Amino acid sequence: MTRHFLTGTELSAPELDALIERSAQLKAEPLSSRALAGASVALIFEKPSTRTRLSFEAGVHELGGHALVLRSDDLQLSRGESLRDTALVLSRHVAALGVRTGPDTVLRELVQYASIPVINMLSALHHPCQALADLLTIRETRGTLEGVRLAYIGDGNNVARSLALLGGLAGLDVAVASPEGRSLEADLALPHDARGSLTLYTDPLEAASGADVLYTDVWVSMGEEVDPARLRKELEPYRIDDALLDRAAPGAFALHCLPAHPGEEITAEVLYGDRQRIWDQAENRRHVQKALLELLVGANGCDTR
Ligand code: CP
Repeated sequence: MTRHFLTGTELSAPELDALIERSAQLKAEPLSSRALAGASVALIFEKPSTRTRLSFEAGVHELGGHALVLRSDDLQLSRGESLRDTALVLSRHVAALGVRTGPDTVLRELVQYASIPVINMLSALHHPCQALADLLTIRETRGTLEGVRLAYIGDGNNVARSLALLGGLAGLDVAVASPEGRSLEADLALPHDARGSLTLYTDPLEAASGADVLYTDVWVSMGEEVDPARLRKELEPYRIDDALLDRAAPGAFALHCLPAHPGEEITAEVLYGDRQRIWDQAENRRHVQKALLELLVGANGCDTR
C-alpha cells in the first residue's frame, strides 16, 4: 500500500525511532544507500525555499536518484489542469512526490489519486520534515529524546504544530508559549501512541523554565495575511536571547528552523553563539529526508537497494 507523509503522524512511534536511527546512520555514511538508483523524485514548490530544496535535491542525488524541481508555474496546474490529473501523470514517471504548498487540502487531494508516496515539504498547518530534523538534532545533542523538555517560544504555527505532534510521538515533553490568539489549538490531539506531552502557555518565561531546548521560528510566516507590524509587537516578549536561555536547564541550547530574523525572534548572539545547534539542524534536513525516502519508496515496491 502506498504510504504518504503529510502530518508525520502516519508513522508509529517505533517507526519514528527507527527512522531517526537510520538518519544517524546515513549521516555517518552519506553514500551508503542506493535506494533511489534509477528513480526520479518530483519536488513541487508553490512557495520559496532554501533548506528544503537544497536538502531534498542533494539527498535524492546521494541516494542515486534524480530530483526534478518544479515550480508550480512551470506546470499546467497554473493553467487549470487538475490536481487529480497531475497526480495520475506524476505517478507514471517518478517514485515519489514532494510538495510545498499553502492549503493542506492540496496534499489531501493529491494522495487521493497518486500511486506514489506524497511528502509534505511544508503546508499551512504542518512542516513534518522539519520536525524530523529537529528530533535528530536533539538526539545527537542529548543522546535521547524520551523525557527531553522542549519549549517552543513564538507563533503557534505549522512548525510548532509538527513539533508538538512528532515530538510528542518521540517522547518529548513539549511546551508551546504564544500570545493569546496565536496559540496552537487547545484540542490538538497527540498520536494515540505518543510517549511525550504537550502543554500550552502564554508566558514565555514559564514555558522556558527548566527546558532542555528552546525553539523558535519567524514571527511572520510566508503568505500570512496579517498586519506584520502588529504581529511583531505582539510577539516582542517571545524572543530567544541569553536571558531566556539562562532560565532554561543547564546545558540548554536553541533551535530555529530558519530563515532567521536576528533581533526579532532570536538574538544574533544566540543564533551565532555556542548555545545553539541551529546549523546542525539545517544540515540534518538532508539526512532525515533520505531515511524518509528510503522508507516510503521502499514500502511502495521500488526498493532497489
Ligand atoms: N526550514 C525550512 O523549511 O527552510 P526553507 O523555507 O528555506 O525550505
